[in-house]
Amino acid sequence: MPEASNLVMAPRIESEALKRRIEFYRDLGIKTLWTGHIPADSGPSSSPQKQETAPIPDSEIQSDVSAKAIDVVTQDQRIVPIQVNSPLPPMLPEDDNLQRIVQDMGDCTRCRLGRTRQRIVFGSGNPEALLVFVGEGPGADEDEQGLPFVGRAGQLLTQMIDNTAAKEGLPIRRPDVYICNVVKCRPPDNRTPEADEMEICGQFLFRQLMVIRPKAIVALGGTAAKALLDLKTGITKARGQWYKWRDIPVMPTYHPSYLLRPYNQNAKRECWEDLKKVLHFVYD
Ligand code: SF4
Ligand code: URA
Repeated sequence: MPEASNLVMAPRIESEALKRRIEFYRDLGIKTLWTGHIPADSGPSSSPQKQETAPIPDSEIQSDVSAKAIDVVTQDQRIVPIQVNSPLPPMLPEDDNLQRIVQDMGDCTRCRLGRTRQRIVFGSGNPEALLVFVGEGPGADEDEQGLPFVGRAGQLLTQMIDNTAAKEGLPIRRPDVYICNVVKCRPPDNRTPEADEMEICGQFLFRQLMVIRPKAIVALGGTAAKALLDLKTGITKARGQWYKWRDIPVMPTYHPSYLLRPYNQNAKRECWEDLKKVLHFVYD
């Protein structure tokens, strides 16, 4: 339980910045705000599971002015405290950049994955890349090195990018693109990230993507596709087609880990086709 002196209040009177911030999150499609801490005496709704989130009802997300959205944060006249040492990421400023996102993350423990990771795996590659690959989350090797896609799946991804580009006569290699994940900390036993973990950490991914503003994004596997797109189908059906995250074209394809299994060689061929399509779209 943090001391009272560690808390800043979000009073109604200073609600303008908060209002803009909530509008920004709403634009990103984020429906739940992490508020750092909700005190035990904040009302009957503060069950342990709800302690880390303040839900914004759908009806309010659709409304055009977010005065109501602020009421969500302070609903029932309740003032929700925000911990100074782990504030919400700031509203996307004009001059947001990757370094600032890293700074805002700090030694992040905004979700439970922060408790078991060794290192945060932020991303790597060209910060001005025209193409960004988004994976699911770090594995054991990535957790140890602090870099994305450096294990077996990563080696396959590197080969796929380098060999496909070379074969297609494009002067692109892995360091020319940018690679990151939906969640920045390794899920224990490489389990799939939970929805709340994806939503909380997704705020950093969204900022990363908005800063880089690539010409296209490749979503590697169903988890990345789900994080970026409102998909009604699984990855097998969705792969190879263009979708959009905000105004950026997104191509879902198979995750390289899936392709490492010997019985998925057909999927490997399909994935190479998808990559070819993306590389020509971005670099022709
Ligand atoms: Fe923070 Fe993301 Fe790690 Fe969760 S996964 S602790 S939100 S950096
Ligand atoms: N799998 C992922 O989704 N991301 C990595 O960084 C490594 C393996």
